[in-house]
Amino acid sequence: MKQNKVSIADILSELTRATVDKRHPFRYPVLGTVSNSVSSSLRIVVLRKLYGNEAKLFFHTDLRSKKVSEIREKNQTSFLFYHPKKQLQLIIKATAIVHYKNDVSLRFWKSSSANSVKGYTGKKTPGTFSSEYNPNLQPVFFENVENLSLVEKGYENFVLIENNIVSIEALQLRRNGHIRMLFQYDSDTNEWKDDYLIP
Ligand SMILES: Cc1cc2nc3c(=O)[nH]c(=O)nc-3n(C[C@H](O)[C@H](O)[C@H](O)COP(=O)(O)O)c2cc1C
Repeated sequence: MKQNKVSIADILSELTRATVDKRHPFRYPVLGTVSNSVSSSLRIVVLRKLYGNEAKLFFHTDLRSKKVSEIREKNQTSFLFYHPKKQLQLIIKATAIVHYKNDVSLRFWKSSSANSVKGYTGKKTPGTFSSEYNPNLQPVFFENVENLSLVEKGYENFVLIENNIVSIEALQLRRNGHIRMLFQYDSDTNEWKDDYLIP
């Protein structure tokens, strides 16, 4: 990189690539939620979709999971990404909307592969204690599931989280001086404001 900057266009295109490339390191960000408790909660999710022009990113999850109740308590989400080859870290802050059994979630459900949503068919609530091993998945779903109609009941627990990006902080590591930039999204003008931060 000759220029001493990171471009928002490059960041958005890399994130978009991650939604279609299973091997892309940006596909598996750490999602942070805060809720009303003192400690933060962290876990990995799959980045399913990015609408770059509207600064929205999407992941899906189980209605019964802790993250959904936390987001409902406090709708601030953050995402941590790292691309080891590019040595690029991104921290995205967003405000989240929970889509459950509405047009938006239905559209996503219909375009999902059965394998990516079969986990939502489990009878038990994720995260609850169990005295014995329980994968919460019927053995018929252990192998590749071809058809979405086979996992239909998973829709009862399927939640799509829309995250409206407020800011993206990028840290590009470089031997000859790191670059740290903050991009803030203005949803009225659809424009990004960029500033340098001291790395
Ligand atoms: C590679 C990977 C991808 C994951 N993707 C998702 C996902 O897209 N949605 C999800 O709800 N959980 C996903 N999980 C599981 C979560 O990390 C987490 O264990 C689970 O959702 C429970 O989180 P919670 O109790 O904090 O809500 C993934 C885990 C891994 C390791």
